[in-house]
Amino acid sequence: MTPTTLWMMTKIKDIVFATRNAGKIREVKKFFANSIFGILSLDEAGIDIHVIEDGATFEENAAKKAREICRKCEKIVLADDSGLMIDALDGAPGVDSANFLGADTPYAQRNAKILEMLANVPEDARAARFVCVIAIARPGQDIILQRTELHGQIAYAVTGQGGFGYDPIFFLPKYGITMAQMDVAQKNEISHRGQALRLVRSKLEEVEKL
Ligand code: IMP
Repeated sequence: MTPTTLWMMTKIKDIVFATRNAGKIREVKKFFANSIFGILSLDEAGIDIHVIEDGATFEENAAKKAREICRKCEKIVLADDSGLMIDALDGAPGVDSANFLGADTPYAQRNAKILEMLANVPEDARAARFVCVIAIARPGQDIILQRTELHGQIAYAVTGQGGFGYDPIFFLPKYGITMAQMDVAQKNEISHRGQALRLVRSKLEEVEKL
């Protein structure tokens, strides 16, 4: 084992990322792979509480999740609340993105429904954005919030196998592809969550004096 490999395996800080969404945890683990932060999912951290996301904003939900889980595990906790806002639908599904058409409804069905709702909407009115708010909770400290957005538009067809959720209908004109046509590394480079994670990593290094 080389010193570099050994260093990369020596994670200095465990961080709990408060999600059970396999797509999100895959992206976050990949993002922190070569850092001093070791990411634990809720299951890996042995945390079985379910925080009800009943806030009116992404900020309220992210802060509530991070605060409650931090209180339980006494570790640094990151919690994100994210969603898709579609201009032609007055910002829906928005904060309710995870429950749009029902929490257990397959995304193939939800994405098909959105395409149907936008069937007569012209290209210049199909703007949409992914929003991500990440809350950092540290034992005994105030919550820190970070918000980022990724602007794009709703595609005309479901395209791509990667990512999760609404990725197959989120088209990025600058790249000429949907988010589901990107691999995890590419998505992390540009996505709402990737941008927020970069800012959060800097803030963590600053406040934890690493
Ligand atoms: P949350 O777990 O309450 O933050 O739910 C966010 C929901 O927004 C997810 O279940 C997805 O439906 C959607 N969402 C958030 N980020 C993404 C993304 O990167 N791609 C596709 N859908 C996303």
